[in-house]
Amino acid sequence: MQDDNLDKIFNSTLTDAEFTKLSKFIYGQYGIKMPIAKKIMLQSRLQKRLRALNMVHFKVYIDYVFSKEGTDEIVHMMDVVSTNKTDFYRESAHFDFLQNKLLPSYINKYSNTRQTIKIWSAGSSSGEEAYTLAMVFRDFLEKYPSIDFSIYATDISTKMLKVGISAIYPEERTEIIPLNIKRKYLLRSKDKSKKMVRIVPELRNRVKFARLNFMDNSYNVNEKFDIVFCRNVLIYFDRETQEQVINKLSRHLKSGGYFFLGHSESITNIEVPLQQVMPTVFTRI
Ligand SMILES: C[S@@+](CC[C@H](N)C(=O)[O-])C[C@H]1O[C@@H](n2cnc3c(N)ncnc32)[C@H](O)[C@@H]1O
Repeated sequence: MQDDNLDKIFNSTLTDAEFTKLSKFIYGQYGIKMPIAKKIMLQSRLQKRLRALNMVHFKVYIDYVFSKEGTDEIVHMMDVVSTNKTDFYRESAHFDFLQNKLLPSYINKYSNTRQTIKIWSAGSSSGEEAYTLAMVFRDFLEKYPSIDFSIYATDISTKMLKVGISAIYPEERTEIIPLNIKRKYLLRSKDKSKKMVRIVPELRNRVKFARLNFMDNSYNVNEKFDIVFCRNVLIYFDRETQEQVINKLSRHLKSGGYFFLGHSESITNIEVPLQQVMPTVFTRI
C-alpha cells in the first residue's frame, strides 16, 4: 500500500467528546492544562501513537488507553503529549549566577570540609539542563577536590529520560557550549559522519535520572537539595497546581537553598516558602 493511502487511513480526527475525555485525564493525572485550543495539537501528536499501534480510529485508541491492557500505553501517550523543548545553557543568566555568586559562596563555606552539593533538575526533559549544571559545577570545582556535587534529574517522559541516560546528542545542539567546556566534557563519535557527541563519564557518573510525576501526593525522594531547578514546567499547570508543586519541591530544598524557575514563570500570588533574590531565583525561607 502506498504511504499516502496509509496517511489517509491513520489520519483519524478527535471528536470534541474524545478530546474532553483525554484532556480531563491528562489534567487530572499530570496537571497539564489542555484547553480546547490545543485539540489539533493533541490530535496530531496522538496520531503517531495510532500509527504505532496500527489503530485507525481514535475511539479504538481511547478505549484501549482506558482499558486494563492499555495502562502501559499511558506512558507512551504522555511521551508525545508533553512539551520537551530544552537546550544546553538555556537561560544562561542562571548559570552565570551559579558561577559568579553561588559557587564562590560554597567555596567559602565548605573549603575545609568534605561536602557534596546536591542539585535537582526537576522536569529535566532530555538532560541538557542537568548536564549544563554538571559542566558548570565540575569546571568550577576542579580546584577544590574536597567539594563534589551530584545531580538528580527527573521527568515524566520515559522517552526523554532515555536520551538523558544515553547522554548522546546531535553535535549541532552543543554549539552553544563554550569551546573550552566542549573540549573537556564532550566526546565525539568515532564515526565522524554521525555528528553525534556524548557527555564524558566523569559527568555522567554524577547525574542520576528517574521518572517522577509532579502530581504525585508526595515525592519519593529521600534527600534534601541545595539547589532545585524547575524551569519551563510550571507554565503548563494552573495556579493551584503550581502552588502545590512548588510546595512539594520546597520540602526537599534545604533551608537557605536556591530555587530556579523559567523566565516566564513567577511565584506572584502563590503561597510558597520562597523569597526572591533576583528575577526567577529564590531562596528557601
Ligand atoms: C519544556 S521542558 C523543560 C526542560 C528544562 N527544564 C528546561 O527548562 O529546558 C518541560 C518538561 O516537563 C515535563 N513534565 C510535564 N508535566 C510533568 C509532570 N506532571 N511531572 C513531571 N514532569 C513533567 C515534560 O515531560 C518536559 O520534559
